Parts: sequence; structure tokens; C-alpha cells
Amino acid sequence: MNWLRDLLLPAQGSAYAGEIDKLFLFITLLSAFFFLLIAALTGWFVWRYRRARVAAPSSTVTHSLALELTWTLIPLAIVTGIFFWSFNQYVAASVAPGDAMEIQVTAKKWLWTFEYPNGTRTINEIHIPLGKPVKFVMSSEDVIHSFYVPSMRLKQDVLPNRYTELWFTPTAAGMHTLLCAEYCGRSHSDMLGRIWVDNDAAYQKWLEEGDESTRSMPLKELGKMIYESRGCSTCHSIDGSRGQGPSFTGVFGHEIKLADGKTVQGDANYIRESILQPQAKIVAGYEGIMPTFQGLLREREIVALIEFIKSLK
Ligand code: CUA
Repeated sequence: MNWLRDLLLPAQGSAYAGEIDKLFLFITLLSAFFFLLIAALTGWFVWRYRRARVAAPSSTVTHSLALELTWTLIPLAIVTGIFFWSFNQYVAASVAPGDAMEIQVTAKKWLWTFEYPNGTRTINEIHIPLGKPVKFVMSSEDVIHSFYVPSMRLKQDVLPNRYTELWFTPTAAGMHTLLCAEYCGRSHSDMLGRIWVDNDAAYQKWLEEGDESTRSMPLKELGKMIYESRGCSTCHSIDGSRGQGPSFTGVFGHEIKLADGKTVQGDANYIRESILQPQAKIVAGYEGIMPTFQGLLREREIVALIEFIKSLK
């Protein structure tokens, strides 16, 4: 059945995925079997008892107890079996083992933020160790979002004013896609994240020093990557067009009109302040809806973003 699973479903990333796939394939094949059985019988009856062959019915049979019990009890047994099978899996997916590492997840329009037990915070991207259970404790700052990792076969709504949980043990190293699966506004489809599953050594190194590839990246390039991966691009364009927030093009070196009537010089200090304290200076014609990135970006990443914006003349 593996070829069928590979055809229908994304690669498996957790121990749980294998279990869920068995159940999914069972229900799919069972449905296909009954569909074919019923369609074939219907077709055969239509042909066999067509009017040209059989005179108007004169039978006195009203029912058949044996037949009715058969078509009631067999499906009852099947769906009861499916219920207990899937209920078991639901419980297994709901209750995390006590030693699971806990990651706090906050969803807001339109990005994911994560906080590790040691205080490390990231946006739209996390690294987790291979083969160790990870538990996500999730809440939303605005509307309902949904934390969906297809390769782990898990999806859980993320709600404002309430915590929901989800856990898994990753079994496949590499990158896994995180999606928002609840329509949450204009940039819902951009609310993407990456879950990197690392071996132990790589995970520890990342936790302490951040990404190898980004540490050696030139500032401007790093800035562009952050712009694309940390949620900036959902609100700020780089082609000069208007978004939820002002475009990044034409900021650096220009006078900027603010909502309170003052103007400010678009320099490094202004950009830095707008990243860390977005409410300090609101650009005229826009709403102050941007969340702060205080603590979410490393110092070098802020500098890189400024360099990137500087390059957009
Ligand atoms: Cu968040 Cu859709």
C-alpha cells in the first residue's frame, strides 16, 4: 500500500503520521469498496429488472429480517471499529508526554512567533531536535488561526484568549512546512512557516548561535531574506505599491510625513525605531497595526534589514 500512500499524501514526518495514514487509507479503501459494490449492484438491478423483461411486480414479500440485520449490523461493526481506532489516535495526539520540550506559539496577522524554554524567540521558523517530543502551546493575538503541519498529519486551531496544544515526535530530518489553515484575512495564504528538524548537535548549535548560513551572509542579502521570511513582506511592498503598511521603497534618505503632521528623516535610527517600537511614529495615511519585533530579531538582523531598506532607493 506504500505506493498508494505516497501518491495521496505528503511524506511522513512524525511517528504519528504513520498511524494516521493507516487509518486514512483504511477508510478510503473501504469507501471505494462500498462505492463500487453499490454502484455495480445498482447497475445490475436496473438491467435485470427493466420493464421490458419483467411484468409488473406481484410479490407479497414485505421484508427480510435476515437481510436487514445483515446490512445494519455489518456497517455498525465497521463504524464502531473506526470510532475506537480513531479515538485512540486522537487521545494519543492530544496528550503530550511529560518530558516533551515546550514551545510557546503566538499567531497574529500574519505571522507565527515562537518562544523556546531558554528565551530564544523566532518568527516563522523554528528548529527542533530529531526524535524528541515537542509540545506546542498556542494562542492568538487577534483572530482564529490554525497551526497545520501536513507532514506531521496534525492541525489545531489557534484561538484568542485560550491556549490550545499539539505535540509530535519528529522522525524525519529536514524542512517541514507550516501553514495557517483558517482563513484569517488578506495575507492568510502568506502565513507560512518552516520547521527544521535537526540532529542533536546541529540543534544545540543553532540554539546558541543562530543559523550557520545566515551568520556568514552579507548584510543586504540577509536583510532581503528576513524581509521575505519574517513577515515583513506581508504588509510592506518593495515595488512602491501600497500595502497594509508603507512600501520599503523610497524610505531611506527621504522625508516621511507622519500621522501627527510632523515629518521625519528616513534614516537608520528611524527604521530601527519603527522595527522595535512601531507605534512611536505612524506614517500619515496608515494605521498603527504593526506588532513590535523587540526581542524577535538579533542585532545583526536589524542592521541587515536597515541595509536592505537602504538599498531600495
Ligand atoms: Cu492565520 Cu490564516
